[in-house]
Amino acid sequence: MHRVLITDNLSPAGLKVLEETDGIEVDVRSGLSPEQVREALHDADGIIIRSGTKLTPELLAGQPRLKVIVRAGVGVDNIDLAAATREGIVVMNTPAGNTTSTAEHTIAMMMALSRNIGPASQSMREGRWDRKKYTGTQLAGKTVGVMGLGRIGQSVARRCRGLEMTVLGYDPFISEEKAAEQGIELYRDLDEMITKVDYLTVHTPLTDETRGVINAARIATMRQGVRIINCARGGIVDENDLADAIESGQVAGAALDVFSSEPPPEDSRLRSLPQVLCTPHLGASTDEAQEQVALEAAEIITAYLLRGE
Ligand code: MLT
Repeated sequence: MHRVLITDNLSPAGLKVLEETDGIEVDVRSGLSPEQVREALHDADGIIIRSGTKLTPELLAGQPRLKVIVRAGVGVDNIDLAAATREGIVVMNTPAGNTTSTAEHTIAMMMALSRNIGPASQSMREGRWDRKKYTGTQLAGKTVGVMGLGRIGQSVARRCRGLEMTVLGYDPFISEEKAAEQGIELYRDLDEMITKVDYLTVHTPLTDETRGVINAARIATMRQGVRIINCARGGIVDENDLADAIESGQVAGAALDVFSSEPPPEDSRLRSLPQVLCTPHLGASTDEAQEQVALEAAEIITAYLLRGE
């Protein structure tokens, strides 16, 4: 029997696949402390996680039975990849399952930010009818810069084209043909692209290269009144620098689904600025995306453990 430990919420469809697969035994345990995860891993051949479980070098060391980690989702920044490699543990993710949901959430955030949907809704709940205060800006005719043209970035770019925006994209790897096919004006130089946009939306993983890449120095080169959206990973946009730039008026507003520390502290400046729209890491949180990533995770972990694929 191959034992699969699951320490974050996984959609029932994925669990069912695992439970019905001969040779696989499922151990679902949520809300574990890091020490409890470490202990539970002693008896696991594989583990499926989402973003709630952090697999640190301390947890991955001394786990001779553990062969594979599957991240039900895209970002693997909660797994210490160097430690996993050192210990001979394979790491896989489910890159496609939540693309559409995350792209849709990005567009929802961009629209809501432009039309002050959050504060306007709150003001009505508080009994006001304040039409003038919440005059917004139109997206059609504006220029959006998409930083990172992977699956999600491209999906956002296509939707922005549908909204009649001019779409610029920064990516070092995508081919010029692929970008052109989707109506994206491609930049290989981030510094050049960001000076030309009314909206910047980031869609890269969080790595040593991308941490803090949107910082005070870069924000200062952007158009005054730019709006910034981050539905990728907290920390790509420097949070203090962003708050300063909003307070100074250089940035008109920001829509953030992700934070460098999740949840962010209750007294975080970004939480309290009225020009900031925040959601609690909901990009992939739809029934459809969660079912899809859970099914993909179940399939790849069983294929690896049972067939070595
Ligand atoms: C992902 O990386 O797949 C998303 O951020 C969703 C998540 O963390 O669960």
